[in-house]
Amino acid sequence: MTQPRGRFITLEGVDGAGKSSHLGTVRELLEVHGKVVRMTREPGGTEIGERLRELLLHHSMTLATETLLIFAARAEHIAQVILPALAAGQWVVCDRFTDSTYAYQGAARGLGVVPVAELERWVQGELQPDVTLLFDLPVEVSLARRKQASLELDRFEKEDGEFFQRVRTGYQARARHDPDRMHVIDANQTPNEVKNSVEKVIRRYCLNEQ
Ligand code: TYD
Repeated sequence: MTQPRGRFITLEGVDGAGKSSHLGTVRELLEVHGKVVRMTREPGGTEIGERLRELLLHHSMTLATETLLIFAARAEHIAQVILPALAAGQWVVCDRFTDSTYAYQGAARGLGVVPVAELERWVQGELQPDVTLLFDLPVEVSLARRKQASLELDRFEKEDGEFFQRVRTGYQARARHDPDRMHVIDANQTPNEVKNSVEKVIRRYCLNEQ
């Protein structure tokens, strides 16, 4: 008997939206339901991808170079990790995917939708996430949270409030464009409330519970 294909779940949001802290929430809930979970991230997820991530986060480059490196890392990630895991029946949970490219490169950096859509078609073919959680919150709140965390900032995190406003608007446009796949989580709540919202979406749209 062939293994049923696993499901592909992505988490998205502006830096500081708390998405990374809820990767564990998703993983635990799926594992309790007996799923074999493969956690991964973009840019990265493979040896080549992690090397490209280092360049992307810390070296200045043209927007074309940035976008092409992101899709180069993604091509490798899809071929080496995502498709094999799904084919083996694993559930892939990915911290960021192509919605990030629409929001950051397409909207915030001003590349526009068309070049991203063309690269998406070429690199991904038919592959799309089954379910995406979009952690949404006002830019002032995400900036304040990031300041509080006071970690060393990468090239994207050094951008100003207007940049992140465009990222947020870009994400919201994606959610309107694909409402069946993208579920907006109000990240401007307590961590426990956000956790409950995340679990609700996973139960309903991934585990098909009511
Ligand atoms: P991430 O590791 O999620 O950073 P953080 O944990 O700080 O949220 O992502 C690294 C950065 O890469 C993030 O600032 C957004 C950027 N990025 C893009 O600009 N385009 C993309 O397509 C992806 C996947 C990430």
